[in-house]
Amino acid sequence: MKKKVLVIGGGGREDAIAWKLGSSEKAGSVYSIPGNGGMARRALIPENIPFSNERVIRFAEEKKIDFAVVGPEQPLVEGLADGLRACGISVLGPCARGAMLEGSKVFAKNFMKKYNIPTASFEVFSEADDALDFLKSKESVVIKADGLCAGKGVYVCRAREEAFSAVKEIMQEKKFAGAGSRIIIEDMLRGEEASIIVLMSPGSYSVMLPSQDHKAAFESDKGPNTGGMGAYAPTGAVDSEILKKVEKKIIEPVAEGLKSEGIDYRGVLYIGLMIHDGDPMVLEFNVRFGDPETEAMLPLLKTDFIDILSAVENDEKIDLKWEDLVCVDVVLASGGYPGKYEKGKKIKITRENIPDGVQIFHAGTELKNGQLYTSGGRVLNVAACGRDIIQARNKAYEAIEKISFENMYYRKDIGYRELERRR
Ligand code: AMP
Ligand code: GLY
Repeated sequence: MKKKVLVIGGGGREDAIAWKLGSSEKAGSVYSIPGNGGMARRALIPENIPFSNERVIRFAEEKKIDFAVVGPEQPLVEGLADGLRACGISVLGPCARGAMLEGSKVFAKNFMKKYNIPTASFEVFSEADDALDFLKSKESVVIKADGLCAGKGVYVCRAREEAFSAVKEIMQEKKFAGAGSRIIIEDMLRGEEASIIVLMSPGSYSVMLPSQDHKAAFESDKGPNTGGMGAYAPTGAVDSEILKKVEKKIIEPVAEGLKSEGIDYRGVLYIGLMIHDGDPMVLEFNVRFGDPETEAMLPLLKTDFIDILSAVENDEKIDLKWEDLVCVDVVLASGGYPGKYEKGKKIKITRENIPDGVQIFHAGTELKNGQLYTSGGRVLNVAACGRDIIQARNKAYEAIEKISFENMYYRKDIGYRELERRR
């Protein structure tokens, strides 16, 4: 029997997941809530279903969904996976207690300390005065609001003044409301960042291809932090030696820790790493696929996505198979993003002459009367596969020539570290 699947979310990550599901012989109907302007090509998007956990659960029950894949973190932290499981639906996504690894930075850091997982040393503060006092003896620190802040709650402070103003913004001006009632102040780590995405279930785990995101808005990692302006996979930043260390020092202790805490974790664990002199340390955990890492990773995945969903549900290890290629994903963003930007711009895509091996994943797009318009900061992803980073990059940028909307911008250097590594 073909499986009915529901993909929850409406970004590039979810479009990539829906695309991958679309290629599975084992998938029957694929639904998405809320979806986006491009996902309608791949998934059935019910109208008039507002994004609330209750409505999603009711919908999944009505449609007799077999598997749900939860893209974003917020519904997981609010217990969507628990609610779906209570109705007998299998879910790729942890329970609310497991989702605390992303939902509370204090929980995550204490978990890492308790289970001896390498991460920057840190202190927790719930009073601004204590935090300001502590900062007097510090130079470079990273300050993090405890709760979910849509990716905006982390301040990398190279000077003391920046740290003082971060504490004031979070704790006194309450920029993130309750999410900032506690903060972490941690040591600044140096090195190269990489992302490791793991399929986790209580008794086994499978590591996906290592990838690298580009978080800054502009070339050479300049400008404000964004949700991610592009990614590529696999990355040479994580070689087999480092990967072994990640398994031994991070993934296995996490699995042990979850077991000791009585958390039945069935879903994705994203590990944000800082690698220095061959030693990986954890910057953050996310409890979902990375965006845009997923868009760079899934075009290389040969394993059927339904097999992955079944393996996680049944707590089985899955031997993931990958194309022996490199994928570069470039995000096309609205001018002004991650600050203020305009929506509603007409999108033009000339499909002829787009090279083979290129996928366009939609994020902030909306389809109105057959015309695509921008509806978000990150609008489209262009993911291109090639035999190496050079070919993949060239194909991605060649395809981008065929796409336009007013004020479109993108980074022209996605994968630059990998190119430097090859020299
Ligand atoms: P997070 O959401 O915790 O991953 O933080 C967002 C970004 O802030 C990371 O991708 C890093 O670029 C940076 N960052 C976070 N923690 C640290 C740290 N301890 N040292 C250096 N950079 C950090
Ligand atoms: N690309 C970073 C994230 O998904 O959090």
